[in-house]
Amino acid sequence: MNYKKERIIIEEYQLSIEKVTFKADESTILDAVSFQVKKGERVTVTGPSGGGKSTLLKIIGSIQKPTEGRILFKGKNIAETDPLAYRQSVSYFFQNASLFGKTVKDNLIFPFQIRELPFDQKRCEQMLERVKLDRSYINKAVNDLSGGEKQRVALVRNLIFQPDVLLLDEVTSSLDSDNKEIIFDMLAELKANDQITVISVTHDEREISQADRVLRIIDGKLEESV
Ligand SMILES: Nc1ncnc2c1ncn2[C@@H]1O[C@H](COP(=O)(O)OP(=O)(O)O)[C@@H](O)[C@H]1O
Ligand SMILES: [Mg+2]
Repeated sequence: MNYKKERIIIEEYQLSIEKVTFKADESTILDAVSFQVKKGERVTVTGPSGGGKSTLLKIIGSIQKPTEGRILFKGKNIAETDPLAYRQSVSYFFQNASLFGKTVKDNLIFPFQIRELPFDQKRCEQMLERVKLDRSYINKAVNDLSGGEKQRVALVRNLIFQPDVLLLDEVTSSLDSDNKEIIFDMLAELKANDQITVISVTHDEREISQADRVLRIIDGKLEESV
């Protein structure tokens, strides 16, 4: 009886962060952080610099492994999930995302290649237009783009296929106000879609005010405020 009840509760959550601890050398960067996220929730993570926010997001994104604790995605331990498959469902996007290859197209082909799907140029051009880059950008050299344009192309690369969960680490904080606005608008559109779960680290008051839930990380410890 009890066992059955517990299973139902577990399956209600899309992500379950269970006592995640991260230690480097002698210091504890994350200290037994636990919380659960439901599908479609918008969670904002704030807190002072150096508190462990980026480390937490990298661990959820499976970019980094926790020293202790585990993360369950749809009830399954991500340490036992194929990383490539996991990254298709849980997309991690950070402040200074880097582009690879020579052209914008080289970057946009990548998400199709890993899914073994044919490249859809029209779809890519439409996505570029959503971040205010006209279709000619597809053939541009990566080296000729400004920092803000690179960030916008990286965002398109992450979002050509919609992930289940989007992890955003201060994605707008190093940008000027025009670039910030463009990225903010695209993300707002995305967040309006209640199928996608968003966990974002931000200091932006506007983003914080739109969150369903605000988590504060201070000295590696979680404080949840409503
Ligand atoms: N792999 C690591 N090795 C050593 N120290 C680290 C490592 N990763 C993060 N840190 C340290 O952990 C602290 C928290 O970092 P971070 O997660 O980037 O915080 P935040 O994103 O909240 O500013 C910082 O003091 C940082 O220098
Ligand atoms: Mg950080």
